[in-house]
Amino acid sequence: MSSDAPAPALRDRLRGAKPPHPDLPALVADESPDDPRSLVVDWLIDAVDAGVAQPQAMVLSTVDTGGGAAARVVLLKDVDDAFWFASSSLSPKGRQIGADPRVALTFFWSERGRQIRVVGRAVAGPRAASEADFTSRHPDSRAGAIAVPQSTVVDDPEEARRSLAAARERIAADDDFVPDDWTAYRVEPSSIEFWQATSGRDQVRLRYDRDGDGWTRASLWP
Ligand SMILES: Cc1cc2nc3c(=O)[nH]c(=O)nc-3n(C[C@H](O)[C@H](O)[C@H](O)COP(=O)(O)O)c2cc1C
Repeated sequence: MSSDAPAPALRDRLRGAKPPHPDLPALVADESPDDPRSLVVDWLIDAVDAGVAQPQAMVLSTVDTGGGAAARVVLLKDVDDAFWFASSSLSPKGRQIGADPRVALTFFWSERGRQIRVVGRAVAGPRAASEADFTSRHPDSRAGAIAVPQSTVVDDPEEARRSLAAARERIAADDDFVPDDWTAYRVEPSSIEFWQATSGRDQVRLRYDRDGDGWTRASLWP
């Protein structure tokens, strides 16, 4: 983008950008389930059925080692009592979680006018879960994950290409190979907030907070 682009033109374009679809589903706080995780599953299935592209993509926010914020997109793998994603424990995010497990997850499905915000703690799942995740990945994705440590600065692209070729050979020779750092993480939620745009200009917000074995619910002013 050129730095001399006139700011008003961008402002106008942003104001004129396509709004959410006018035909949106509803969130009725009084009819919501006792356990918010079942509502998360309902909303995920709705997004899949509605044809939302990559509805499992979510922003994972972490606390960096200097106490600052860090965020990036990862893919949700499953929801049971926790939210599952997978990455390298040696990546920046993995190291951050190792030092401070407090995380947030954010989903946004524009086509459904919906946001979900999760706050919780990320912990490494059992080794078997990490192995199952890694071996289910496409061989190219497995090779990419072991070729060069994630988020390493690439000073020499040729060397990186050689590492990738060697990694492909290794994966082809041993389909069961799983690197020690590959980790299936579970995020155990302490709060989950649902945000629903309405066909007018209103929004409905509903937050659940962990309370012992159960959850308390509160409607929030949007
Ligand atoms: C749609 C999408 C899905 C992604 N899924 C993952 C994932 O599941 N795991 C992962 O480690 N990185 C994933 N990434 C890459 C991360 O956003 C990030 O670039 C990478 O993990 C390095 O992050 P870090 O340096 O904070 O550790 C994905 C990126 C996008 C845009």
